Amino acid sequence: MLSRTAQIRLVSSHPEVYDPCDDSFALVDALLADRANLVEHCPSICMEVGCGSGYVITSLALMLGKDSSGCHFFATDINAHAVGVTRKTMEAHGCHAELVTTDIASGLETRLAGSVDVMVVNPPYVPTPEYEVGQFGIASAWAGGENGRSVIDKILPVADKLLSDKGWLYLVTLTANNPSEICLQMRKKGYASRIVLQRSTEEENLHIIKFWRDLDTQLEFLDCHSGVMAIGVVTSVFKGKRVAQKHG
Ligand SMILES: C[S@@+](CC[C@H](N)C(=O)[O-])C[C@H]1O[C@@H](n2cnc3c(N)ncnc32)[C@H](O)[C@@H]1O
Repeated sequence: MLSRTAQIRLVSSHPEVYDPCDDSFALVDALLADRANLVEHCPSICMEVGCGSGYVITSLALMLGKDSSGCHFFATDINAHAVGVTRKTMEAHGCHAELVTTDIASGLETRLAGSVDVMVVNPPYVPTPEYEVGQFGIASAWAGGENGRSVIDKILPVADKLLSDKGWLYLVTLTANNPSEICLQMRKKGYASRIVLQRSTEEENLHIIKFWRDLDTQLEFLDCHSGVMAIGVVTSVFKGKRVAQKHG
């Protein structure tokens, strides 16, 4: 049977690039556990922000397999070495992605606005002094600033801009990042969320959170803030779409 995740022996490496680690494996395990939904989701565009070695985006492409023939893959990293390593990892697995060295998705935002169906992010989440964030090379892999939230808090609005109406975001977080506050922040933008995998290692307590746009959440927000929306009417107008979005 064809492998549904990238094979470690075929994953390229570089001294300045983050090797697949517990967090990478947790994210891929979460995607694998959701594979049937991902296949049914039929994504046209999948994207990874912060691709590192390419282990995650390659695994996503492999697990979608022949079902992803019409799907375009993108991956970005602020570290140019990571983009080179991801290219080699993808090629070694017979996969292809458009790879861009950039800060989050800078330069792609207009082109991809509202069109990414699946986004995966294992961000730099380790709490560090703020000055360590965005350093050149391997330090950019983990340095997350205060509460490990500096890069995460920049990624969330970009994800909101890029995700399609049916878009899903899978995000790796640590307890120290305050995942419930992240969910609340995304809720205000109209996203429902669920922790799809929780894993404790010797060093950290990881949560993989899945976000999706949810009409109930959007309506709740409109109701709270405008005070004028007739919720029953809006609910029935969106009923068809609501069924299409139901997957949690
Ligand atoms: C924890 S590593 C994860 C690597 C890989 N996705 C994995 O799971 O093994 C975080 C990655 O994000 C990249 N990164 C950090 N800040 C970034 C930014 N502002 N824009 C894009 N990538 C960034 C780092 O260079 C690093 O490759």
